[in-house]
Amino acid sequence: MKIVMLGAPGAGKGTQAKQIAAKYGVPHISTGDIFRANLKAGTELGLKAKTYMDQGQLVPDSLTLELIMDRFGNDDCRNGYVLDGFPRTIPQAEALTRALEEKNDKLDYAINVDVPDSNIIDRMSGRRACLKCGGTFHVKYNPTKKEGICDLCGGELVIRDDDKPEIVNKRLVAYHEQTQPLIDYYEKEGILKNVDGTQDVNKVFEDICDILENK
Ligand code: AP5
Repeated sequence: MKIVMLGAPGAGKGTQAKQIAAKYGVPHISTGDIFRANLKAGTELGLKAKTYMDQGQLVPDSLTLELIMDRFGNDDCRNGYVLDGFPRTIPQAEALTRALEEKNDKLDYAINVDVPDSNIIDRMSGRRACLKCGGTFHVKYNPTKKEGICDLCGGELVIRDDDKPEIVNKRLVAYHEQTQPLIDYYEKEGILKNVDGTQDVNKVFEDICDILENK
């Protein structure tokens, strides 16, 4: 099962991708998480990526592709994966299609979690993220049992630097200009599925499972 998650920043791609990974036993691969882990570890790649992320811009394709393309060769990807935040530009999508074609392989689904811009700022301002395990919560829509503490690993929750409203607006501009065209790209490939991301987290997941199980 090879899945790409599409949607605006804060649409709930990561929230859903984690649940898909857990239910169907495939790895959740998030380029944003990989960049943040590199930043935390102080690698050259992480420091380079930070200059773009802090401005709400996309990290250049060359850097992103260098980072991600090897990952698919890992053993845990034998039965597929759920990609979250990659591809994010047409050149990234074309590079992925080519890499899969070289192995006589292809994606199964591109799932677009559809949420209008008007809901996004509210979602981002309430998001809390765990730096230790990557868990994502929301103070109102998906609260933790204990405030400020990750339900999954007990780590401390933080507000992401790029969740400030002025940066979120820039991320939305980058999304509409560079990432939204992927919806047409995957529609032409015949694998696009839209889900209404404004529903409750569990209902969104139910809709996604129906798609993956052809219900
Ligand atoms: P990345 O980390 O991928 O950020 P993003 O795509 O902007 O997505 P987010 O993680 O912000 O949101 P999400 O859709 O996963 O939503 P979430 O589930 O957390 O990328 C960060 C940066 O890295 C980019 O800006 C770019 O600079 C760089 N980058 C990454 N990949 C790149 C690439 N391929 N190329 C170039 N640059 C790249 O949910 C959001 C909040 O809403 C949470 O609080 C959650 O609890 C809540 N929520 C979720 N679902 C619901 C619901 N149904 N109802 C109510 N609340 C909900």
